[in-house]
Amino acid sequence: MNIKENISLETYNTFGIAVNAKRFISVDSVYQLQQLLKIERDVFLISGGSNMLLTKDIEKLVVHINIKGISIDNETSDVVYLTVNSGENWHEFVQWCISENYGGIENLSLIPGNVGTCPIQNIGAYGVEVKDTITKVEGLAIKTGKLVHFSNEQCKFGYRNSIFKNEAKGKYILTSVSFRLTKRNHTLNTSYGAIETELISNKITHPTLKNISDAVISIRKSKLPDPTKIGNSGSFFKNPVIPISQFLLLQKEFPTIPSYPVSDTEIKIPAGWLVEQSGFKGKRFGDAGVHKRQALVLVNYNHASGKEIYELAKKIQKTVKSKFRVSLEIEVNIID
Ligand code: EPU
Repeated sequence: MNIKENISLETYNTFGIAVNAKRFISVDSVYQLQQLLKIERDVFLISGGSNMLLTKDIEKLVVHINIKGISIDNETSDVVYLTVNSGENWHEFVQWCISENYGGIENLSLIPGNVGTCPIQNIGAYGVEVKDTITKVEGLAIKTGKLVHFSNEQCKFGYRNSIFKNEAKGKYILTSVSFRLTKRNHTLNTSYGAIETELISNKITHPTLKNISDAVISIRKSKLPDPTKIGNSGSFFKNPVIPISQFLLLQKEFPTIPSYPVSDTEIKIPAGWLVEQSGFKGKRFGDAGVHKRQALVLVNYNHASGKEIYELAKKIQKTVKSKFRVSLEIEVNIID
């Protein structure tokens, strides 16, 4: 086993936080992972590093999941069933699907991270959530080293949520994700306002998967910072879901408050709006800041520490709470 010592994790997390791993190993097969679990179980996992904020050096053995490979399990003339190993880069996988004319995840273009972590927070964007294409998730039980399968139902997917953030948290290392994608008669989702506008401005009336992906890429590039240039983890907060009764009171006070329907009793409000209205959009505190075009995204301008970014997040939560009486929940995993 090639365990390295004192490795900087700066390039392994999209926030670009320079903490060290005392010991570090990159694994590229399920077998290697099983062998490793026989000797060490109390490990810290890192994959694409796109949804974590590291606030200190990692004492545990850091295991970088780098298991690659895509296989076609089955196909008909209408659909294809694929299994993708967890170390595959998400966006590259999406782009490969588009080149093969496999539909279903084109709206999820340019989301940072790897395939193996997409089910954990049920990544979603522009009207699509990954849960709608996942058929199965496979992982190793850390306790026993045995392979375990989760059907879509067993994953208990919700908005930015799944069993892997709740009762199964910390118990499994996800090794592959299986998808069902369409080969023809694709269900295109262009309902999200900005996509429609983008397609119209490009004079596209009958969009292909690639047209949609290109539209999403262009929207994301115009709003969200590129993590290879400015460290960030995408949306730092979840959009809060509150009771409609509470929303109506807020609306009296703040008539322009935007909202999305959720159910007969609950409504979702954009965290980005709350953060912007609290005066944080574009603000910089040392090297930690709030992105100038999307207040939902906290950024590391250069050498911010994870602690500085976490302090900023707490300051935002406090201000939003006192102004709107709404609690902002952090979406990113804080490692402290
Ligand atoms: N808004 C503001 N100020 C801001 C940002 C947003 O007022 O600085 C308000 C606007 O009213 C806007 C509304 O918030 O209309 C919604 O903003 P946007 O359409 O940009 O989407 P979002 O709710 O902020 C969610 C996801 C994103 C995903 C987009 C598009 C969450 C927490 N975030 O953002 O996901 O890309 O929708 O579907 O649900 C991610 O998870 O990393 C991520 C980027």
